[in-house]
Amino acid sequence: MKNKLGLISIVLWFLTVGTFAVFFVKGTTTVSSDQRRSVNLNPQEKDLVLGEMRSMLKAVNGMLGALSEGDMKKASEAADSAGMAMAVDADPILMAKLPLDFKELGMGTHKAFDELSTRIKNGTTIPEALKAMNQITTRCVACHEVNRLGT
Ligand code: HEC
Repeated sequence: MKNKLGLISIVLWFLTVGTFAVFFVKGTTTVSSDQRRSVNLNPQEKDLVLGEMRSMLKAVNGMLGALSEGDMKKASEAADSAGMAMAVDADPILMAKLPLDFKELGMGTHKAFDELSTRIKNGTTIPEALKAMNQITTRCVACHEVNRLGT
């Protein structure tokens, strides 16, 4: 009897961890009306992700404004505002709903902003900073091309 209970709990443990692992990789998605992958979130989670997106657009706008004026201090501040620090306290349930490649592309984008901020602080040139911005916005385009949010 004792052994049987042990076995049942091991099976249950594998089922729970296995289900979580599948969710962690696949997220909660369907195919949307325009054939992009729809990452389905509840309204609060969707607001959170879209709010983060608007902050990133604001950072891109701030970067371009600062670089056009040659204000490198302002440029690094704009890059910092979209760095990893803005993504640190993401809710684990939301993280489980996002597909793995979405998380990687998203986190990689925050990291790229942090790296650019460091490069600017270390005295990179404006053309180099613009090149990095082009690479960052390629990530924005790549993700938007294949993903949308649903409920
Ligand atoms: C990992 C994927 C991903 C990356 C990277 C990404 N986005 Fe998004 N973004 C999305 C998704 C998904 C939506 C929702 C689009 C939809 O539902 O049609 C979105 C929406 C937005 C919106 C609309 C916000 C609103 O309030 O409706 C803006 C602005 C935006 N993104 C800006 C950016 C910028 C700027 C970057 C790059 C610096 C970026 N995003 C990078 C996935 C991403």
